[in-house]
Amino acid sequence: MSDHDPRGQERRERAGISRREILASSGAAAFLSGLTGARSAKAQDAAEPKIAWAGPRKHPVSLKLNGKPAKLAVEPRVTLLDALRDHLELTGTKRICDRGACGGCTVWLDGLPVNSCMTLAIDAEGRSVTTIEGLSQGGELHPVQQAFVEEDALQCGFCTPGMVMSCAALLAHNKSPSDAEIKEAVAGNLCRCGTYPHVFSACRKAAGQ
Ligand code: FES
Ligand code: FES
Repeated sequence: MSDHDPRGQERRERAGISRREILASSGAAAFLSGLTGARSAKAQDAAEPKIAWAGPRKHPVSLKLNGKPAKLAVEPRVTLLDALRDHLELTGTKRICDRGACGGCTVWLDGLPVNSCMTLAIDAEGRSVTTIEGLSQGGELHPVQQAFVEEDALQCGFCTPGMVMSCAALLAHNKSPSDAEIKEAVAGNLCRCGTYPHVFSACRKAAGQ
C-alpha cells in the first residue's frame, strides 16, 4: 500500500495507526529525517485530527422484564434481541437470521409476540417484555412448554423458544384455537428440522384439545 494513497491514509487514521508508527516500523523514518525541508513525523502527527466519538451515546432504558423492573444503557442502534442476550444475559431468545425472517427471536412486547431482532431496545422503554425465561411460573413449566416436552415438538431446539412464545401468545388471547389459527400463529416461525406437526399437536394439547 503506497504511503501516498489517500484512501490508505484514511483507513490507517480510522484504525488509529499514525504515520509515525508506519514510518518507524518500515525504517523509512531515519531516511526521511535527513531530508532538507521535509516535515518531521512529529509535525505530521500534530497535523492529523484526533479520532472523535462518532454517533449518539448510550441511552438509559427502563422496562419491565419478565415481571420485574430492569434498567440498561444502550446505543440507539442496539436491538432488543442483542440487549437481552448481550446486556441482560437472557440467552434463551435465539439469534438465528437477525433480520426478521425466522421468528427464532420471538418475545412478547406488552403481551404480543414480536421479532426482537427487528425491535430497537430503546423502543421497549416503559414497556413489558416477556422472554422464554419468564414463561414458567413458580418452578412449573408453562402448559405450552409442558406440551412441547410431551409431544416431542423439537429436534435441535434452536427454533423452540420462538415457537413456544408464539404458541403461548396465541393461547393467552384465544383459549380454543382452530388448526388454521395455530398455523397462522407460528407462520413466522421457521423450523429447519421440520417439527411442525408436533408443534401443532403440542399447541392443541396445551389448549386442552
Ligand atoms: S433472529 Fe429474529 S427473526 Fe430470525
Ligand atoms: S427443532 Fe431444529 S430448527 Fe426447529
